[in-house]
Amino acid sequence: MRYSAVELGKPVSHSLRINAGSESVTIFCTGDFHEDDPRRDSPQFAALKDEFKSSPNPRLLLLGDYGEQWRPSSRERLSSILVRDDDERSQFDDDVRRKQDPLIKRLSFAEGKIIGIHSGHHHWTFASGENTDQRLASALRAPYLDIVAISRVQMIPCGDSRHALSYTLMSMHGAGSSKFVCSDGAQWQNAIFPYWIADHYVRGHGHKAGVWCPGARNVARRFGPAGIIEESPTMMMVGGLRRCYTDGHTSYEEQKLLPPQPISWGIIRLKINRRTCTSAARGLARQAVTDGHGARMIVSESVTRIWRP
Ligand SMILES: [Fe+2]
Repeated sequence: MRYSAVELGKPVSHSLRINAGSESVTIFCTGDFHEDDPRRDSPQFAALKDEFKSSPNPRLLLLGDYGEQWRPSSRERLSSILVRDDDERSQFDDDVRRKQDPLIKRLSFAEGKIIGIHSGHHHWTFASGENTDQRLASALRAPYLDIVAISRVQMIPCGDSRHALSYTLMSMHGAGSSKFVCSDGAQWQNAIFPYWIADHYVRGHGHKAGVWCPGARNVARRFGPAGIIEESPTMMMVGGLRRCYTDGHTSYEEQKLLPPQPISWGIIRLKINRRTCTSAARGLARQAVTDGHGARMIVSESVTRIWRP
């Protein structure tokens, strides 16, 4: 598990000053590109990029499985073939880098605006110990989030860090099945939701898309007046950008009789809301949700965008 805090407003690479109530941050959640061939037509990627560029204060959260090769079933066997031949190993590593470079270039539109880069099932570990997902993260100057991460997205209205507002995300590449959305989502919800308290949960690897609220959660106050704080956390399952059952190419979905996935990405819009908040400090002491003037950061929209050709 990785823990990271992203401060929007005091970042290294970009600056964002927000006037409360008037601006928002848009977080795009995507992954499962499963695509190594830069010649492959990818209008879905272009659509995502267009929406990213036309959204206010966009940020990207990448959920793993960027390449199609280097799957777990063949990775160890490939490594073992190369283990006694350093030259062959280093040539193979160079080929992997060459194959990954177009993806780095295509994602460069979001450089400096990436909340984090998860690892998935498909990756290659170089002789140096670095893996392809870490290489992608360092090339795009983004935090490497491994498989599961908790991130704190912080907005700093008017550049005053004393009034920082936080929103917590638990994100992961995840694991799942080709079951129905409800049964796959139930498995994930049962394993994660009761045990980690966050504002928003995001899972990739879905082959499906869905957003739901598992229920209102009542948190007993530890400080201030006795009582509860009511929360309505959101869970989001995101498919991927890779098409399957395409003409002229047999994919593993066809071999394993998996359903074709909807091409989709998740969108979380956060904004500062001054009207609906309380000024009491939050009991869990894990984040500041008030700025002393009654403002808090809320999710104003959480959707999965289904791309249609
Ligand atoms: Fe995966």
